[in-house]
Amino acid sequence: MSESRTVLKNEPEARAELKRELDRTWEAVSSSFSDDSAFSGIDPNELRKMISLIDFLPEEGLGFDRALELTQEKILPHMLRTWSTDYMPHLHSPAMLESIASELMISIYNNSMDSWDQSPAATEVELAVIRLLTKLFGYDDKADGCFTSGGSQSNISAVMMARDAWCARKLGWDVKKKGNPPEYQTLRLYTSELSHFSMDKACHMLGLGYDAVVKLPVDSLCRIDIEKAEKIIERDTAAGLLPFCIVATIGTTDFGSVDDICALRRLADRYGLMLHADAAYGSGAVMSSRYRERTGDLSLADSITVDFHKMFLLPISCSAVLVKEASMLDAFQLHADYLNREEDEEDGYVNLVGKSMQTTRRADALKVFFSFLTRGRKGFDDIISRVIGNAQYFYSKISCDSDFLAPVPPVLSSVVFALRDGDEANRKVRRALLSQGTVIGQTVMNGRVMLKFTLLNPALSHSHIDALIERIRTSCSALRGAGDKS
Ligand SMILES: Cc1ncc(COP(=O)(O)O)c(C=O)c1O
Repeated sequence: MSESRTVLKNEPEARAELKRELDRTWEAVSSSFSDDSAFSGIDPNELRKMISLIDFLPEEGLGFDRALELTQEKILPHMLRTWSTDYMPHLHSPAMLESIASELMISIYNNSMDSWDQSPAATEVELAVIRLLTKLFGYDDKADGCFTSGGSQSNISAVMMARDAWCARKLGWDVKKKGNPPEYQTLRLYTSELSHFSMDKACHMLGLGYDAVVKLPVDSLCRIDIEKAEKIIERDTAAGLLPFCIVATIGTTDFGSVDDICALRRLADRYGLMLHADAAYGSGAVMSSRYRERTGDLSLADSITVDFHKMFLLPISCSAVLVKEASMLDAFQLHADYLNREEDEEDGYVNLVGKSMQTTRRADALKVFFSFLTRGRKGFDDIISRVIGNAQYFYSKISCDSDFLAPVPPVLSSVVFALRDGDEANRKVRRALLSQGTVIGQTVMNGRVMLKFTLLNPALSHSHIDALIERIRTSCSALRGAGDKS
């Protein structure tokens, strides 16, 4: 392979080569799909076998063109097409067009956010985006934040900061220096039984263990039952346990239900606890003039998880953790002579490594900057309001349809529902649709198999939704027919 084909250089040949490879890549991607379905429907065993026949590390490289040809033939046709209106199982969005362009900028420059000398403009962009976000969520000038690899890392960071701050305040204990306090096995974090499992992971990783996570029961709308929560915290306190944090879920993974942040703040204050808002999902609602109120006042929380690769439709990965008091981020502050010299920082070279769990880190804030700039507040308002409106529409259709049950009205853009034919029918319908390229969600509610639409794609129209309902009904009827014959 010629030297001009290794890295970008300030030479016409290298520029031309990169452009040619990008153009060819786009042609390959573009020709890998020719219909609206989300997936080729290939069987997993067949796909595995086909991929296992490829020699992944040949002695002599194939070169770009042949490698692309092979990828185009074997892999791209079976990649999941997140932009399809037939894709709605997870909190996993299509990427907006301009955000793909910003991903390209991020990859080409390959800046790293740990130190200013590795990312001068990107560092300043992240600082400015974080300032904007803290205002957007109602925090004042004392707030700060940092981009992370996703909602899980944002949550783990937040729980760590909450543990450290609480231990310093209540026990006079410096966790950063000395590790968990002697009474660590009694520390307790309270969160909804429907919260994301990153809470359990966080407590495991922090040396507190799963037993530290107390799952609070929910009401009929899938929100933490505040009265029961208070009784549980009171009971634990009386038993000598040490409650340190409540986590409100602002958009549960399945239902999109939103805990009452105001009531949880009161509870946290009464018992002297930290309050984190896991708004990985629901944070997008802040952009909707119509539905913004549905998340409650997130500035009541001591920290907030905001995921941009969910409702905000930015490419994976893109998330931030915001803190009400900038000093909470000191939990991550460390100096290395080679990286973040104190004298540089005194002269205005901000090294973001001191706010992050990561060292090398992608310039993801650039995607937020570029999409906010491209679409403005109004553009995001339209998108987020449309997807939440779509969930309302879908719910209004199936909640009065005798073939379906839909127990929880949507607050955000997810609807959990089921065919009345029972667990097996729901399982089989989802599988049948998958093999036809339509990908819908499946979960469990009160022991019953349920189906799920997570509606993040603004391209989805009411007529698409009507067609999907009919596709599910038809698939179920076909199964009934097959059952009658057998
Ligand atoms: C409520 C909630 N919090 C956190 C996460 C974790 O986010 P990520 O997948 O970006 O790590 C998810 C993922 O779906 C989620 O639904």
